[in-house]
Amino acid sequence: MNLNPAPRIPWTRKHLLGLEELSREEILAILDTADSFHEVSTRNRKKVPALTGRVVFNLFFENSTRTRTSFSLAAKRLSADTQDFQAGVSSLTKGETFIDTAKNIEAMGADVLVVRHPTPGTPHLLTQHVHASVINAGDGAHEHPTQALLDLLTIRRLRGRIEGLTVGLVGDIGHSRVARSNIHGLLKLGAKVILCGPPTLVPRSLERLGCTVSNNLDEVLPLCDVVNVLRIQFERDQKAVFPSIAEYFRLYGLTAARVERAKSDLLLLAPGPINRGVELTPEVADGPHSAILDQVTNGLAVRMAVLYLVSGQKTDPR
Ligand code: CP
Repeated sequence: MNLNPAPRIPWTRKHLLGLEELSREEILAILDTADSFHEVSTRNRKKVPALTGRVVFNLFFENSTRTRTSFSLAAKRLSADTQDFQAGVSSLTKGETFIDTAKNIEAMGADVLVVRHPTPGTPHLLTQHVHASVINAGDGAHEHPTQALLDLLTIRRLRGRIEGLTVGLVGDIGHSRVARSNIHGLLKLGAKVILCGPPTLVPRSLERLGCTVSNNLDEVLPLCDVVNVLRIQFERDQKAVFPSIAEYFRLYGLTAARVERAKSDLLLLAPGPINRGVELTPEVADGPHSAILDQVTNGLAVRMAVLYLVSGQKTDPR
């Protein structure tokens, strides 16, 4: 594999915990590396020997379709051994602590721990107790760095740039780790970020990060080059945040009529899972503006890049 263009700076981090702590150059290094791995995914033989002999463990304490599967497949494509840890059938149910569990997994030779946990800061805590690299696959409402990186990669691949674009993040911003990671990444790469949703789901305090906050989607949508539709997280306590799903959909649902009034080349993203008929209609989700499945494809390349970089590869892995 030819890493061309080569990452703009040498990657020195052992962990990927969030986009808040990354520089613009580090984010670009991941995106450039992911572009190279994207090419690998188009080959008949979709596998490179870069991480032969390495062991990647998925430690997921929340459900996942895209992130877990994609990390697993990314590790396999890099020729690493990969193993999923099943929390529900583990000795956690007998009282073993999270840290003891992680140390036991590391004792089996894990080089990289990919961690999703409902408690913010869990991956950061883990770095103080294990020698393995730790990748944050979503910690509570804090950060989901690889989701934001795949969103950035999708925008860059489909629009050719990120700098100067206006990106609207619509929906449940307050509970969203995807929103937080996107805000850090988009602002560092020079995009303008507008947060839009009901006042109960879009804290005004996020303006201090450098975003604009609006509660009126019909005013915001015509300004946007990209809209990223964030899911209403019904599994969290949402009882009092808006009067009804019908009311939310009327004010903030992405419908064909709303998209008609947007820019003709509007790019529509959604991290998934999507609630069809709540955040967007099926015809919009499956329509010509939608890049939802491109995001999933790009996610594989991003996760290959992150696994490769945190594993300290310095050489061309062909
Ligand atoms: N976008 C995302 O993180 O999806 P999963 O919860 O299915 O991993």
